[in-house]
Amino acid sequence: MKLILLGAPGAGKGTQAEIFSKRLNIPTISTGNILRAAMKNGTPVGLQAREYVESGKLVPDAVVIGIVQERLAEPDCADGYILDGMPRTIPQAEALESCGIEIDCALSIEVSDDVIIERMSGRRTCPDCGASFHVRSNPPKQDGVCDLCGAALTIRADDAPETVRARLATYHQETEPLKAFYAARGKLKTVDNQPTIEATTAEIARALGL
Ligand code: AP5
Ligand code: MG
Repeated sequence: MKLILLGAPGAGKGTQAEIFSKRLNIPTISTGNILRAAMKNGTPVGLQAREYVESGKLVPDAVVIGIVQERLAEPDCADGYILDGMPRTIPQAEALESCGIEIDCALSIEVSDDVIIERMSGRRTCPDCGASFHVRSNPPKQDGVCDLCGAALTIRADDAPETVRARLATYHQETEPLKAFYAARGKLKTVDNQPTIEATTAEIARALGL
């Protein structure tokens, strides 16, 4: 299964990617997590990415395409993968196609901007493993501590309300056109956001025929 998860910032791509990665036993490639790790480690890619990520803009296509091509060549991707947050522009989708990658499905999680803005204020993220929690809808077992790796949870720098608004604008302008791109290829499926993570998982499973 080669699955692309589309959706606005905070739509639940990372949360659902983690669930389906376990269920299907395939890795998730999250460009957001890769870029945040690079920023934390001060690598050349991280230094290049920081100003874009922190202002809610997209990192240049060439940087992201290079990262993803390298990652997809690793052996654990041989049986499939979930792409979370990539492609995010038409040129990125075209780059995947020109590498000969044929995806099975681009699944878009549909959420209104109002729900996103409310939701992002409660997100808590693990700076070490990238896992996402929410103070109300998905609290960690121990307050402020990652269930998966035990690190102290943080609020992502780009979750400040004004940056969330900039990310939403970027999404509508640059990423949403990908729905038409994949619909034209017969690959698009859409799922409406549900009030809980579990209900959204069930909708996605139904859409994918799992
Ligand atoms: P990235 O990390 O990909 O961020 P994003 O797309 O803005 O999405 P998020 O990670 O914020 O949200 P999500 O959809 O994963 O939601 P989550 O599962 O956490 O990218 C960050 C930045 O990196 C970009 O702005 C850009 O600068 C750069 N970048 C990354 N990829 C790039 C690319 N390809 N090209 C160029 N630049 C790139 O859920 C959100 C919250 O809601 C959580 O707290 C969760 O617990 C909760 N939740 C989830 N589902 C539900 C539900 N159904 N009900 C209630 N709560 C829920
Ligand atoms: Mg995410």
